[in-house]
Amino acid sequence: MKTIIANWKMRVGVRESVALARGTLLTVRGSKVIPEIVVCPPFVALGEVRKVVARSAASLGAQNMHSEDSGAFTGETSARMLTEVGVSHVIIGHSERRQVFGETDEMVNAKVRQALANQLIPILCVGETAEQRDADQARDVVRDQLGAALSDVRLRGGSKLLVAYEPLWAIGTGRSASLEEALAMHEYIHAVLNGVFPDAPKGQLDVLYGGSVTGENAYQFMREKLIGGVLVGGASVKLNQFREVVNAAIEVMEGLQE
Ligand code: PGA
Repeated sequence: MKTIIANWKMRVGVRESVALARGTLLTVRGSKVIPEIVVCPPFVALGEVRKVVARSAASLGAQNMHSEDSGAFTGETSARMLTEVGVSHVIIGHSERRQVFGETDEMVNAKVRQALANQLIPILCVGETAEQRDADQARDVVRDQLGAALSDVRLRGGSKLLVAYEPLWAIGTGRSASLEEALAMHEYIHAVLNGVFPDAPKGQLDVLYGGSVTGENAYQFMREKLIGGVLVGGASVKLNQFREVVNAAIEVMEGLQE
């Protein structure tokens, strides 16, 4: 199985989200193998998009959440509110949240624990800056982010955790990581995850690549066994591009069946 996360960010309103969700579902119509597609619209569109993806092969994801159950947190959304509108996945610690909104490793950790406690699948984002990579610190940064985010995290049977490796220099830049760079980091992240969750059964943890994924480069990433799928930003709001990404996943999955 390959997973594709469509992160629509703050780019589409309610009507556009509904249209995009419909178009996204059309990309898998008629195909025998269907990747796991998680569409992540803005909060205000979750309710309407839910109606489109209900009883379809696609799942509904949120782009963020708060770590507390409820309370005086103006402008925030709790895990329970998300499950109430049919959300199954939640992006946590996206670099834009960390960089623009000052999310700390501690906040990311609290959110991961809260998501799991509410039966949501966290899509935990980690990744280094260009400066950190140039200084040969990419692995250390990612290891520290994972260590902090997964501190005191327990994975019960039936729960799942996705980690998205998203180097910051590749997000929205049109310059994705090379396959070698992505693979090396995926191998490393898997090793770190094995250390944190030595008893996790197969399928409970998966590592995705994100950062300037397009219809052109998606196949090369997804054909790799170590890369469980992709997290797509810009190309997920362009249906012709996204269709190519989905087709790449389908092609890879058909190949795996043979
Ligand atoms: P991008 O964004 O695909 O536009 O680079 C990815 C992301 O922000 O998750």
